[in-house]
Amino acid sequence: MLAMIKSMALQGLDGYILSVQVDVSAGIPCFNIVGLPGTSVKEAKERVKTAIKNSNYYLNSKKIIVNLAPANTRKNGSMFDLPIAVGILMANGYVKNADVRQILKDTVFIGELSLKGTVEKVNGILPIAIEAKKLGIKRIVIPAKNAKEASIVKGIEILPVSDLEEVMMFMNGEIITYNIEEKIENFEPNYDIDFSEVKGQENVKRALEIAAAGGHNILLIGPPGSGKTMLAKRIQTILPDITFEEALEITKIHSISGLTSEEQPFIKTRPFRNPHHTISGISLIGGGRNPKPGEISLAHFGALFLDELTEFNKNTIEVLRGPLEDRKVTINRIDISVTYPANFILIASMNPCPCGFYNSKIKECTCTPEQIKRYIGKISGPILDRIDMHVEVNSVPYDELKGTNKIETSEQVRKRVNKARKIQTNRYSEEKIFSNSELTPKLSEKYCKLIEENAKLMQEAFNKLNLSARAYNKIIKIARTIADLDGKENIEKNHLAEAIQYRTLDRKYWGK
Ligand SMILES: Nc1ncnc2c1ncn2[C@@H]1O[C@H](COP(=O)(O)OP(=O)(O)O)[C@@H](O)[C@H]1O
Ligand SMILES: [Mg+2]
Ligand SMILES: [Zn+2]
Repeated sequence: MLAMIKSMALQGLDGYILSVQVDVSAGIPCFNIVGLPGTSVKEAKERVKTAIKNSNYYLNSKKIIVNLAPANTRKNGSMFDLPIAVGILMANGYVKNADVRQILKDTVFIGELSLKGTVEKVNGILPIAIEAKKLGIKRIVIPAKNAKEASIVKGIEILPVSDLEEVMMFMNGEIITYNIEEKIENFEPNYDIDFSEVKGQENVKRALEIAAAGGHNILLIGPPGSGKTMLAKRIQTILPDITFEEALEITKIHSISGLTSEEQPFIKTRPFRNPHHTISGISLIGGGRNPKPGEISLAHFGALFLDELTEFNKNTIEVLRGPLEDRKVTINRIDISVTYPANFILIASMNPCPCGFYNSKIKECTCTPEQIKRYIGKISGPILDRIDMHVEVNSVPYDELKGTNKIETSEQVRKRVNKARKIQTNRYSEEKIFSNSELTPKLSEKYCKLIEENAKLMQEAFNKLNLSARAYNKIIKIARTIADLDGKENIEKNHLAEAIQYRTLDRKYWGK
């Protein structure tokens, strides 16, 4: 006898309907799963068999064939346990309900089974629920432990279940009710660090404010102890307030990665990721046999902080080139290709030389020119080119550190950032971009027009600083952000002059 149960699978953040076809018959006992099951799906056999036995169902027919259709993409994860088990039980005559055809037509089943027969939490419920609704599915049966996360999605019936028996009660026509709703409120961010803890450093703070406002990548370069790490970590406290759509997308990625909590599944703050320099390329970019989002996707709509950039493996940094340009990453395997978004602010810090004091006012550098060159050379031209703003961090003089002047708080700075970001959101409502940093050369021509006097200033800087076309484009975009922070419709001379300043350090250190 054949049973067909609907389930869903994810490819990147997109979902598709999967038909779980179960055929049971008399014959030599066997249990085969076909249709490109990955290792984790193959393991379903043992879990499903034991879960069925421990839920007190008896199987008369022992020859079981499960087909996962369509068969052309590899399936991963444990979420097909439930539809497979339901299919086997149906094919064994455990459903005696005249309305079952209608149920099967409208319902998608998702869930991992424990050996006891309980339905366990799975990753990726939020994107699955969103996709199911998009595909016109009426109802999804999911693990009770995922209920809160799924209930973020409105307009689709969610049926949380705790064990196999409960699912079979539903299949046999019993009405199962539930009442759970994830409240989406309180978007006020709350941090235990603050900009006001950093004394002095007004120019660096200003640069971080611009980076946060326009979504620009930024490199901090300076001697040890000058406060680079301290400053960089505080960028999260001045990032613009998050929108509902952004929060939803961030939560989707965290959901797939199993990083959402059962109690508070909705992520309401922009991510700040701070991976250690020993991180592998795969963990940073994403990938693996069963492709998973990397740090760059977990930082989507937030910031990725690479502290001590020169300590990272050079190849690991180089793989950032593509995603920094495309703001997404595609992972290709023989039988699967997935794309994850990766639109983040890169914030990186580094010392200028091995001893750390090259160009410093407080201490003599003890490195040879060759040592400095080799050290600086760890950051390649193409990577440097993709970091919009380069900022020198100098150690704060003693009096300033001991000063008791009132310092601006993160909240005060964030107010300005929010205002500038709102201007951008309105301006780009038709363009599918969120911030100035995402302007393509074509779009910057449209939105960053320079009056003649300023075009001349740019021309001079271009020649004098020997700028690349990419650097030119970055300056225009940063100037646009500075003008937005200033509340000005047009880019003015002082905006441009300040923007140019953030592209001069590469000459000083990299000799370009
Ligand atoms: N501007 C500053 N205001 C207050 N404390 C500072 C400042 N700069 C540095 N510090 C103190 O010095 C410590 C070292 O700074 P850190 O950010 O680790 O420097 P770096 O990363 O440049 O080596 C900080 O944890 C902080 O306590
Ligand atoms: Mg540091
Ligand atoms: Zn040195």
